[in-house]
Amino acid sequence: MNINTKLLHGYPVICPETGASSIPKFQASTFHQTDVFNHKGYNYTRFGNPTITAVEECIKVLENAQFGLAFSSGMAAINAVLFLLSKGDHLILGKNIYGGTFQSINEFLIRFGVEVTWVDESDVNAWEAAIKPNTKMFYLESPSNPLLTITDLKAVTDVAKKHNILTACDNTFMTPLIQETLTLGIDIVIHSGTKFINGHSDVIAGLVATNDETLYNQLKIHQKALGGVLAVEEAWLLLRGVKTMGLRMEKSITNAQKIAEFLQTKEQVKQVYYPGLPTHPGYEIHQKQAKNGGAVLSFELETQEQVEQFFKKCQVPIVAVSLGGVESILSLPWLMSHAAMPEEERLKTGVTPTLVRLSCGIEDVEDLIADLEQALENNG
Ligand SMILES: Cc1ncc(COP(=O)(O)O)c(C=O)c1O
Repeated sequence: MNINTKLLHGYPVICPETGASSIPKFQASTFHQTDVFNHKGYNYTRFGNPTITAVEECIKVLENAQFGLAFSSGMAAINAVLFLLSKGDHLILGKNIYGGTFQSINEFLIRFGVEVTWVDESDVNAWEAAIKPNTKMFYLESPSNPLLTITDLKAVTDVAKKHNILTACDNTFMTPLIQETLTLGIDIVIHSGTKFINGHSDVIAGLVATNDETLYNQLKIHQKALGGVLAVEEAWLLLRGVKTMGLRMEKSITNAQKIAEFLQTKEQVKQVYYPGLPTHPGYEIHQKQAKNGGAVLSFELETQEQVEQFFKKCQVPIVAVSLGGVESILSLPWLMSHAAMPEEERLKTGVTPTLVRLSCGIEDVEDLIADLEQALENNG
């Protein structure tokens, strides 16, 4: 089955009881048991719910995985995975990473006695050089948020396998449609379902997929015991949103490519970060492991005044914290997605006050380009 067919027919999309063309919202916290010793598959929604099961089947199918899990947010999914680590374990991860993940590691994992080493994610040797006898996990994100740096997923995973180290990868920016991380050797793939998978800026969700049954069973306990399960209403909305992901992504990605090329021609723009541009330092590797550059790009303006003007003048994209919606979303990572990182860390990793991130939506690209052009005008 090809992907657009799969998105509509590849997982439970029809109610098995009634034939309804959408899985109903089983809006119940608990399930009556006619037999106290046995239930019919569900007993309490934090442990499982048919609407949530459909989402878990969906991510499993999209990732060609054996197991899927749905969480209340991308961060709940990330934390469930990070909780596989125990006191005394060593975690290695790229220094360019989503600000929330950085915060969680800094606030909790380190306090809980996990040793952490940050490496240059684009340097395969740096991952290997950082390995210690207690290294338990490599945590990856490629392309990274917000600078779109690229990690060679296959090469880093090969290093991990050689040393018996677990690999987890945040695939939010690419989605399973563009980058098949499990096929590249990753053990656990994570998504903020809030973004492209739901795609309508109206749901917060997290998803995980794996082929390893032991990991799945452990993560299922984390989902249940930490309590970060996806809500029923959000599960239903996500099931509705995901059906159009193929079409949405296609248009958003075409728009992103055109916008990145346009921004490169503008003198007011110091630098464009987009892995679909041959000038991107990770271009070759990214082409090897993903189908295209995706729908998110970043660019660097010269001064803070320019940034202020630019945000004021932009009319079409919404200015907001998220990405992956049908509408284009403009954000300032310095004040938004990466505000939780100490200033020094942000600057060290290239998240400057003049770095702008654009998540491309499905608008007509001419309107987006015209809007960006007028916002940049007289702004140099
Ligand atoms: C790459 C990445 N991973 C994870 C998250 C966290 O997702 P959520 O906001 O659904 O918790 C985000 C949010 O922006 C993100 O950009």
